[in-house]
Parts: sequence; C-alpha cells; structure tokens
Amino acid sequence: MPNLTSLTSRYGLSVPLVLPPMLGASGGKLAGAVSRAGGLGFVAWSPGPAAALSSELALARQIAGPSASLGVGVQLWQLDARGQEGLDVFSTIAAATDVRSLWLFAGDWKRWVEKLRGLERQAGLGEAAAKDIWLQVGSVAEAKEALESKLIDVLVVQGSEAGGHGLIASTPLNSLLSQIISLNRSSSSPIPIVAAGGLMNGFDLAHVLSLGAAGGAMGTRFLMTTQSKFPLAKKSMVANAREGREGHNATERSVAWDRLAGAQWPQEYDGRALVNRSPSLYAALTHKNDDFDELKRDYAQAVAEEDYSFVSVYAGVGAGLIRKEENAEYVVREVQQQLESSLAASSYSDRR
Ligand SMILES: Cc1cc2nc3c(=O)[nH]c(=O)nc-3n(C[C@H](O)[C@H](O)[C@H](O)COP(=O)(O)O)c2cc1C
Repeated sequence: MPNLTSLTSRYGLSVPLVLPPMLGASGGKLAGAVSRAGGLGFVAWSPGPAAALSSELALARQIAGPSASLGVGVQLWQLDARGQEGLDVFSTIAAATDVRSLWLFAGDWKRWVEKLRGLERQAGLGEAAAKDIWLQVGSVAEAKEALESKLIDVLVVQGSEAGGHGLIASTPLNSLLSQIISLNRSSSSPIPIVAAGGLMNGFDLAHVLSLGAAGGAMGTRFLMTTQSKFPLAKKSMVANAREGREGHNATERSVAWDRLAGAQWPQEYDGRALVNRSPSLYAALTHKNDDFDELKRDYAQAVAEEDYSFVSVYAGVGAGLIRKEENAEYVVREVQQQLESSLAASSYSDRR
C-alpha cells in the first residue's frame, strides 16, 4: 500500500503503522523489526549516554535493512534534566544521517527544534538531510500552536486512551482527532496526522484513516512483542489485565506513580497504567494533606521487589486484549492484512 496515505508515500511504508518511541520498550531490536516489516519504527532514547543510543540505532538499521525508514524519539523534559549529557545526546541525533525522523514529546519543543537546525548546520548537513520533526500533542490548543508554527512535519495526536504519559487535559481520541484534522485541513499547508491511543489492530487503523488520519501509532500492541524490552513480568500483567477495582477498567490515569517515584514530569502530564494500589493510597494522603515520605519509601522498596501491585505498569486501554507475546513483524503483517480487508469494503484516503 505504498501510495495509500501521505505517510506511506513519504516514508516508503507498506502499511501506515508506526511504533512510537516507548521508554523501556522501543529499542533497536523492536524498531528495526517494525521498519523491516514495512511499518515505521522509532527507537526511544533511554536517559543515558549518547553511545548507548548510537548502538541501539545501529542495531535498528542492521535489522531494518539499508533502505527502510527509521526514527528516534526523545522526551524533551528528560533532555533538559540531563544537562550536558542531554546536549550530547541531542548533538548525536542531529548528526545522525541514518535517521530520517525525530519524535518530540513533553517539553519546550520550539527551543529544541531551533537547536536541532543549528546543530545540523554545524554538522554540515544540507536541507535535504534535515530531520523530519514529529510532535506528539494531546489537545487542540497544542495542535493549533504546532500547525501555526510551520516547524512540524508530522503531528501525532494522542488521545486519553493512550498508555504511558499524556496530557492530563487530553480527551478521547475520536473527538480530538476529528477537531485537529479539520484544523489541519483548513491550514495553508496541511501535514500528515498520525493517531495514537487505544489502537490495537488493522480495523482500528482503518477507522482513524476514515477520519482523515495518515497513519496510526500502536504502543500497547507492540509492548507485547518478543522484540520489546518491556520486562516479561510486566508483559504478563498486561496480558492478564482484566476489569480492575469495582467500577474501574483495567487501566487508569494518575500522577500517583510519578509522585511516589519522584519523577519530575512536567505538571501537565499524568500516566495511564494498570490499576493498582498507588493511585488510591496517594489520593488518600493528598486528601489529608499528609506528607508522602513513608509512602515514597514503601514505593522504592516495591520497585526493588518488582511488586506491581504498587509499582506502575504503563499500558493503554487495550491492555488485556493481547494474551501472549507475539513477533513484531507478524503484528505488522497482520495489521496490514486487516487494514486491506477493511479497505476492500470501502475507500479511505487522507487526501480527500
Ligand atoms: C510503556 C510506554 C512507554 C511510553 N513511552 C513514551 C515515550 O518515551 N515517549 C513518547 O513520546 N511516548 C511514549 N509513550 C506513549 C506512546 O507514544 C503512544 O502515545 C501510546 O502508546 C499510544 O497508545 P496505546 O498504548 O494505547 O497504543 C509510551 C507508552 C507506553 C505504553
């Protein structure tokens, strides 16, 4: 399906399916496998030295083959938090000629895009080698700012169903996507829109394409693959996720896990994870205005013991739908087949 959408034609994909850069899951092995099978894989920078990222990118390229598109993703607030190490990582990314796209999330993206362009010039890279900027947003206001800036090449719209961190103010994908697609269409230079949040198969992908998206990102689905770095114990929890506490789904959104772990996420973000004890314990303390020191110590202990009745297991609303590990290349091919069978029944395009 190379000419199905603006995304497949721009990146030479067989299917408009994206592996997002997931911290703790999307390494070179997974990103390479997704790109090799005809999707687009992003390697996540795992906060640490530039050399470690370079070897993940080399592994991704080795697996993907010489011509497949690959990307890399960073959490911007983490780059800021790492000081010089963050700058070194960013310079390495800027100078990498093998990576076509850079996915940005959670931070002062305009400042970092400006820095990127400066570093690319310093590295002697011409405009043709400039990286495509992908930006993940979670609200209409964020999307509007991004579209008006003309600095972004691909916009990822993340609905509140998404696993991992997202904007607290985000809403379910359907309405968010429709509003942002209509904004994009009325812009003087529309860009490809990629949908994220709760997409688990090719039929879900067909749905977002029918709304006018150029592609879809699947996080939770790829968490559960053999190539994903997500620990086996967490994969098993996600596979067995069922409806949780009374009246709750298998997952919920909360700031509790970050507060208890001492993670310095910007305050506009929370995270969706499997339902466990942390959110209610945290809420009870907040209510009483108590201090958290003891609970934080308990949490640190639970991290050491890998006690997931307390510690976060980030996953989206699709948790529990995939019951066992799968090969990532198989997932890409299955999604492609499902999409093709949906398309055989009607005709979708983001170029209507
Ligand atoms: C375990 C996990 C880690 C994630 N890490 C990142 C990250 O480092 N950077 C990022 O931009 N998004 C991250 N995300 C969010 C994804 O980009 C994407 O929005 C989300 O997975 C889509 O929803 P889904 O999981 O329901 O498919 C993460 C998601 C999960 C589940």
